[in-house]
Amino acid sequence: MSEVKVFTLADLAEHSSREDLYLVIDGKVYDCTKFLDEHPGGEEVLVDEAGKDATESFEDVGHSEEAREMLTDMFVGNFQSEGGVKTAKSATSTTPKPIPATDSQDSGRLVSWIKGFF
Ligand code: HEM
Repeated sequence: MSEVKVFTLADLAEHSSREDLYLVIDGKVYDCTKFLDEHPGGEEVLVDEAGKDATESFEDVGHSEEAREMLTDMFVGNFQSEGGVKTAKSATSTTPKPIPATDSQDSGRLVSWIKGFF
């Protein structure tokens, strides 16, 4: 069975060192550990993006078709997209409280008090 693994941001955080380096490009997770030494752009840039979504920096450089093909060998799974974690988010989200009308009187007083200084 070759079920594709799904990584969350927390999973990625466990692979953010030089010795164990995953990064996300275009929703896919790549194990770049062995590639560090070979990267023509140097290892530092990869270490900077370790455990993160590197899509923007990867695209900014304008990598060649050849570079994109190299990615297939490093593929280890899919990245858990934002949409997939919505349930966890909504469980913790709180509805903003409406500002009570009485407050406006108080803040009005505060404003005139501050204005008194000018
Ligand atoms: C695993 C992902 C990556 C692969 C397979 C890869 C591969 C390559 C390859 C093959 C080149 C040579 C030029 C080309 O063919 O386009 C290159 C250059 C470069 N890469 Fe990457 N790269 C990766 C990720 C990144 C990331 C995340 C950055 C972050 C900024 C980056 C920055 C650069 C830079 C600055 C160069 C230009 C080096 C130069 O021309 O002196 N690369 N990369």
